[in-house]
Order: sequence, then structure tokens, then C-alpha cells
Amino acid sequence: MLGSQLCKETDFSSAWFIHACGKLNEGMRFHRKLWEWCYIYEALRERSMLMPFKRGLGFGVGKEPLTAAFAALGSEIVATDLDVELAKAQGWVDTNQHALSLTDLNDRGLCDPYQFQNLVTYETANMNQISESYTGQFDYTWSSCSFEHLGSIEHGKRFIVNQMKCLRPGGVAVHTTEFNLTSDEHTLEADILVIFRKRDIEAMVAELSEEGYRITVDYTAGTGPFESYVDIPPYTNPVHLRLLLGQYVSTSIGLIIEKPLA
Ligand SMILES: C[S@@+](CC[C@H](N)C(=O)[O-])C[C@H]1O[C@@H](n2cnc3c(N)ncnc32)[C@H](O)[C@@H]1O
Repeated sequence: MLGSQLCKETDFSSAWFIHACGKLNEGMRFHRKLWEWCYIYEALRERSMLMPFKRGLGFGVGKEPLTAAFAALGSEIVATDLDVELAKAQGWVDTNQHALSLTDLNDRGLCDPYQFQNLVTYETANMNQISESYTGQFDYTWSSCSFEHLGSIEHGKRFIVNQMKCLRPGGVAVHTTEFNLTSDEHTLEADILVIFRKRDIEAMVAELSEEGYRITVDYTAGTGPFESYVDIPPYTNPVHLRLLLGQYVSTSIGLIIEKPLA
């Protein structure tokens, strides 16, 4: 089973990765965004979450294909994102990373349209102020490439701890974000983007564990040729598992957090 991890190069040739690419209608390429989507898909699939009568809550979904892929497998989904005016102000609309309507979330046709309409709702939700109405309502939560955009490292930490309240006992949360490979001391912390250091992830893990949730993280960084290459602005290289953000090399980290049954 997948665990919380940084290392990814060998995943690209695994059966689960190829299976997830097929379900998301994505061609295989060494891109961290694709890895994040496939990682989330597989982490939930292997924990028996992607099936009828399970309820999923997606945060900051943008136009990612996961909502439709999960609905195609029978899950009831509440897909959420920032209010459109705020999203516009942050540039997510102009860069085509924000869905303007429910049907935008199935624009690849991954789910039968009738099933999609029946199973999916699209709501505005600020990840910094999670609605009490979500408490205890979901079997799983997820977000891809989103909680590094909440304003600060502290906001990201608060989101990860707070969103666990949305889960039912036995529920699973899977979230991906940016991880600083250069330094555990200094990092990028701007309104629009932060890069989490090992110490920030460790602080989250400590708080989650204290609250009784299960998470362990493998911080091993990959050393393979694709994983060692660092893409630089304007980030057009087809190999894009690591990138330079400011003076820091960053890669994606996936977090899987489980809420015990009792
Ligand atoms: C880089 S995009 C990722 C979109 C999508 N998850 C994907 O993987 O393609 C970041 C997303 O985070 C959302 N976002 C940023 N700040 C947010 C907040 N405070 N609450 C909810 N969503 C937020 C943006 O609207 C955008 O959809």
C-alpha cells in the first residue's frame, strides 16, 4: 500500500500508476502534477474508498479529473473550490485552473453525464474556513497542489488538521503539496505560495498523531535520473518532477492520514 512519501520515479512504471493514468485519461509523462493525481487515486482506491455509497470531499479541485473519475466509480462527491472572484484575484481563472461550473469538472467525459449530475455537487469552500456542516460527513477527503496556496505555512498546517474533522470514523484523507528539498531551515513563504520543510510536515504529523490520527512519512528523496533533474522557469521541460521555486528545489509530497474506526 502507498504511504506518505516524496520518492516517485519508480511509481511511473508501476501497474497502479498506469491503471490510474487510464482512469484519468492521461498519457504517461514524468510530471509531478500527474503523479499527484495518480497517487491520490491509488491511495483512495487501495483503501476501498472509490466505490458506491462512499462520500468524498475535494478541496481546491480546480479542473482536475479526480472528481469525475471518482464519480464514475459510484462515489458521491462534494467538489469545492475558492469563490470565483477570489480565485480570479489569485490568477487561477486566467490560468484555466478553476472550474466555472459543475460540467467543467467532467469536461474529459470520464463519467456518464447523468451519473455525474446525480452524484456530484460543486460548492464554494475556503480551505481556511472549513464549514461546520462538513463535520463527520465524508469517507474521504483530498486535495492536489492546493494547501500550499492558503497564505502561510501556518494556514497550511491548520488546514491539514482541521479537514480531518470532515471524516467519518475509518475515513481517509489524501493531500499533496510542495516539499522543500534544499533546506529544513529557510523556505519560501509568500501569500500565494509556500514550500513546506521537513520540520513543517513533522509538526503536522505530531499534531495529527496527538489527536489520534494515523500518518507516517517516508522522507527518502529519489535519486533516479528523472527525479534528480530540476526544471527551471518557465517550466516547459517534459521532465518535471522537481522544480526550482525561488532559490529552493521543490518536489511533491503525498500525505495519507487515516482516522481510526473508534
Ligand atoms: C494549483 S491550483 C490546483 C488545482 C487542482 N487541484 C489541480 O490539481 O489541478 C490551486 C487551487 O487551489 C485553490 N485555492 C487556493 N486558495 C484556496 C482557498 N483558500 N480555499 C480553497 N481553495 C483554494 C485555487 O482556487 C485552485 O483551484
